[in-house]
Amino acid sequence: MTLHDYLAHQQQLVDAQLDRLVPPETTPPETIHRAMRYSLFAGGKRIRPILCLEAARTVSDSAEGVFPVACALELVHTYSLIHDDLPALDNDDYRRGKLTNHKVFGDAMAILAGDALLTLAFEVLAKVEAPPGRKIRLIAELAAAAGTVGGMIGGQVADLEGEGKAPEPELLRTIHTAKTGAMLRASLRMGVVFAGGTKAQYNALSAYGEHIGLAFQIVDDILDVEQSSAALGKTAGKDAAQHKITFPAVYGLETSHRMAEEQCAHAHRVLAPFGDRARRLNELADHIVHRKS
Ligand code: IPE
Ligand code: IPE
Ligand code: MG
Ligand code: MG
Ligand code: MG
Repeated sequence: MTLHDYLAHQQQLVDAQLDRLVPPETTPPETIHRAMRYSLFAGGKRIRPILCLEAARTVSDSAEGVFPVACALELVHTYSLIHDDLPALDNDDYRRGKLTNHKVFGDAMAILAGDALLTLAFEVLAKVEAPPGRKIRLIAELAAAAGTVGGMIGGQVADLEGEGKAPEPELLRTIHTAKTGAMLRASLRMGVVFAGGTKAQYNALSAYGEHIGLAFQIVDDILDVEQSSAALGKTAGKDAAQHKITFPAVYGLETSHRMAEEQCAHAHRVLAPFGDRARRLNELADHIVHRKS
């Protein structure tokens, strides 16, 4: 199966599971379920859940039950996007090719929809079919990756406080590793933990996650400069307008492209011991660096 077909198929599988996990729009209070589903099913790439599925498959032949774990990552990710777009944060009007959640449902409901997706993620994890010790590790991994110390929220704080500051490499690295890298690394780690992988496998896929995590945000920053809003499904050129600390701002576009490729090469290197089992993870690293949206 080509990577394109593989991705489309995995996205379908993830979407079907998400649909099962989120209350229907007819469940009261209807507004919040409509708001949650509006952003969740607006057409995200599902990169985090797919990385989680592939990490589990790379270390185990029986990783079928991993889908709810993968979905928990997407629930937290979608919450982070809804809040990232709020007027008090990046103030964006478009996301995933549609109006942002707060533009449709209002700020209050968008805040609650984000809160609700975050809360649901942990309910889903608590109900995963796995030995209790593994379940607790999964909960701790996701909480830490979304949290304040080197996690997504910590990165968002640094990103916001960095607006207008001098674009310098160390701060840039701190922001990107936390705001995007932590959730991507957790995607791999949670797949390994669910599937009962070894410590060595956990460490290797964590390293892979760090390399593609950094590459992912370098490319997100590059696309913000090089692509159109139509191609991205979100407003292009926002980072420069808001004086964000980004890879193009610190290093320029050419060096940024080269740095993304370097991270991709490191990612391939740490996958070498897995041989052909990591074929899709290898392809996903290339896809993350060469994507156009
Ligand atoms: C966008 O993430 C936000 C970042 C962390 C850079 P994605 O590019 O994965 O967005 P979706 O999920 O496909 O919409
Ligand atoms: C957001 O980074 C990362 C999150 C934690 C949501 P950006 O602000 O660069 O993401 P986009 O470009 O709006 O998707
Ligand atoms: Mg932001
Ligand atoms: Mg943003
Ligand atoms: Mg961005």
